[in-house]
Amino acid sequence: MAAAAAGVTAMGSKRGLAAENSEQSKSKGVTMADHADKPMDRVRVGFIGVGARGSGHVEQLLLIDGVDVNGICDNWEGSAERSAQACVKAGRPKPPVFDKGDYAYRDMLARDDIDAVFIATPWEWHVKMALDAMNAGKHVFVEVPAAYTIEDCWKLVDTSEKTRKHCMMLENVCYGREELMVLNMCRLGVFGELLHGEGAYIHDLRGQMNEVEHGTGSWRTVHYQKRNGNLYPTHGLGPIAQYMGINRGDRFDYMASVSSPSRSRAIYAKEHFPAEHKWNKTPFKCGDLNTSIIKTTMGRTIMVQWDEQLPRPYSRLNLIQGTKGLWGGFPDRVVVEGDSPNTESFEQQDQLKRWYDRFDHPLWKHIANDPSNRGGHGGMDFVMMWRLVYCLRHGLPLDQDVYDAAAWSAVGPLSEESVRSRGKSLDFPDFTRGLWKNREPLQISV
Ligand SMILES: NC(=O)c1ccc[n+]([C@@H]2O[C@H](COP(=O)([O-])OP(=O)(O)OC[C@H]3O[C@@H](n4cnc5c(N)ncnc54)[C@H](O)[C@@H]3O)[C@@H](O)[C@H]2O)c1
Repeated sequence: MAAAAAGVTAMGSKRGLAAENSEQSKSKGVTMADHADKPMDRVRVGFIGVGARGSGHVEQLLLIDGVDVNGICDNWEGSAERSAQACVKAGRPKPPVFDKGDYAYRDMLARDDIDAVFIATPWEWHVKMALDAMNAGKHVFVEVPAAYTIEDCWKLVDTSEKTRKHCMMLENVCYGREELMVLNMCRLGVFGELLHGEGAYIHDLRGQMNEVEHGTGSWRTVHYQKRNGNLYPTHGLGPIAQYMGINRGDRFDYMASVSSPSRSRAIYAKEHFPAEHKWNKTPFKCGDLNTSIIKTTMGRTIMVQWDEQLPRPYSRLNLIQGTKGLWGGFPDRVVVEGDSPNTESFEQQDQLKRWYDRFDHPLWKHIANDPSNRGGHGGMDFVMMWRLVYCLRHGLPLDQDVYDAAAWSAVGPLSEESVRSRGKSLDFPDFTRGLWKNREPLQISV
């Protein structure tokens, strides 16, 4: 069984961010910006971690043409076997199962009938597994956040460049219907020049603390005990970064972060577990609500919030403001000067239909209504999987590359350091090593 979060440290690296940032190590390979591999006839995949999230990945990929599932690894007894049986139920051969110990995944990586590996394990395992997979010649698709130290962000970049293997973080929210439509509207200039964005992950997940021995809460709760900052920044931020062309014409320059007091987890632990329980033994360090502000090199601003414990409705904010108008999510609303009836009130609810009719993203229209789309999270999971398989099979660059994985994930460790230093402003590393200046903003076409 996994050592769970035993390896979680307050910040991950003892050397500190200054040392890590100064290590903008010379590339050990060629850039992966806009890298396209040769087209694959079939995409032969393996999975590491098939718990709550990874088991869904298996089911999604079984629905997509041209995918062979050739290995499933999970070190919790019965988990890998369950996902292997899902393959059989789908009329596929039963894939080999790797379930003996924390490093059984390395036996799977040794196989030569696997091209791409999906990693959906606890955060402390992501980077180790991703590096091993790329070094074994596999493309990597890793869950969010890809890494939680700056040093590890660099390791992903260096290893992807050295091995010429894709390392995509599975930021599914970039494939939501709203997010794709807003991306389309941004590219078409509907909002004018983009000036400000807001993204968040606000989701009351206290109930996960009831997963004490195994499952999400068993390892995620340990992070809340040891770290204070934005521990899960990418769901709200990824789409905003794509709207603004981060790493493609602009980049994150610096950021500052503050956290509220930490209260809700301790209250929940006291109400639901005995005094001697491990959730009551170690204090929770993580502030209930973290707020970060990012400044981009083009001078734009982004607010990123994170809160997984307060009693309030779910939100990712998903707000983008330009010189001509604004889109905001949760609840969805829009105003565009010269197009909306006035700029004093938002168009909302049934008034939004005309915007979807005009700007629904071609990718969404192409695939989301496909009868095979039984995708989770409103269809975004299926669209993401469909799209990455399409890119691999057609030899196209992926929509999210290792530089996006590193820059979006870097908000985690930078927020921790800033919170520790009274909201001090900290520089982002330039993971693209200057290439962001000459890249075109992302266009997703099918
Ligand atoms: N994108 C999304 O919407 C979304 C949603 C949920 C979770 N996630 C991410 O997915 C990842 C997994 O989260 P989860 O909620 O599924 O957690 P989980 O605990 O349910 O699943 C993790 C699985 O990894 C396995 N595992 C742990 N160590 C292992 C090892 N050494 N070798 C093989 N297997 C190992 C566990 O046995 C478990 O089955 C996390 O990174 C999380 O942030 C993303």
